[in-house]
Amino acid sequence: MDSYCVFGHPIEHSKSPWIHARFAQLSGQTLQYHKTLVPLDGFASTVHAYHAQGGKGCNVTLPFKTEAAALATRCSPRVRLAQACNTLKFDGEDIFGENTDGLGLVTDLVHNAACRLQGKSVLLIGAGGAAAGVLGPLLSEKPRSIWVVNRTLDKATQLVHRHAELALAEGVDCQAFGLQHDAVLGQSFEVVINASSSSLHQGELPVPASVLSPHGMACDLMYGPAAQHFMQWATAHGAVARDGLGMLVEQAAESFYLWRGVRPPTAPVLAELRTLLAQG
Ligand code: ATR
Repeated sequence: MDSYCVFGHPIEHSKSPWIHARFAQLSGQTLQYHKTLVPLDGFASTVHAYHAQGGKGCNVTLPFKTEAAALATRCSPRVRLAQACNTLKFDGEDIFGENTDGLGLVTDLVHNAACRLQGKSVLLIGAGGAAAGVLGPLLSEKPRSIWVVNRTLDKATQLVHRHAELALAEGVDCQAFGLQHDAVLGQSFEVVINASSSSLHQGELPVPASVLSPHGMACDLMYGPAAQHFMQWATAHGAVARDGLGMLVEQAAESFYLWRGVRPPTAPVLAELRTLLAQG
């Protein structure tokens, strides 16, 4: 039976085995999918051993996404821009690297949440791995603007610089600012995406509510209890709040498609997962 895996550290929390098992059931695919805790200094050897044993592909989560990008023998333009990879596909000696995080976010926003990005003003908060994984696919939706704001301005500047060619090609005003820049605080955005890890620090919000638009989208890439505070805050200020659970399911669907050539149904899987998480 074809075998897939998710590698991370920690990994116990991962919902990927459950999601892929449901995708396989619902699309009539026969496969197995495990989660594996990888020692912090053992990523490359673990992946090579899995490949040698006949594994067909893997997902990669924190903190190995950068190492995965370096390990791939071939990778997509998305991986080159993000400098991070969450999906590897083994094909003979070839290890193809893809990053499905941003594709998953875009599908969730545009299709599941009916939030078209074309022509919109977007505020992307954060310039770490999560923000890097989504900026390219967000630009490809041709919003009017994407302003990337980060506590450490230099990281936002580097991220925007790396995407300058794509932004120009897509006609997007893409700029970097510090979190407290007057230009950012002085306006509201139709779509606000929290890709910072502020939600891990209970009670902290990275930006003031003035950046939110009434009925605009406010999405935290986290899910479960971590996303609750941001979502309650966004709702209280009239925005439409969304967590990262849909992105999680949609990025998994993109990996599944890359490996199997079959698009699994995501809506029932997302609904079931939400119910499962609510039950604790
Ligand atoms: P991840 O892979 O989750 O993106 P990361 O690469 O460590 O993790 O990046 C964390 C991001 O959250 C960074 O943009 C970080 O800002 P700095 O670059 O200034 O460190 C941001 N961040 C973390 N805690 C934050 C907070 N309390 N308020 C605002 N931004 C925060």
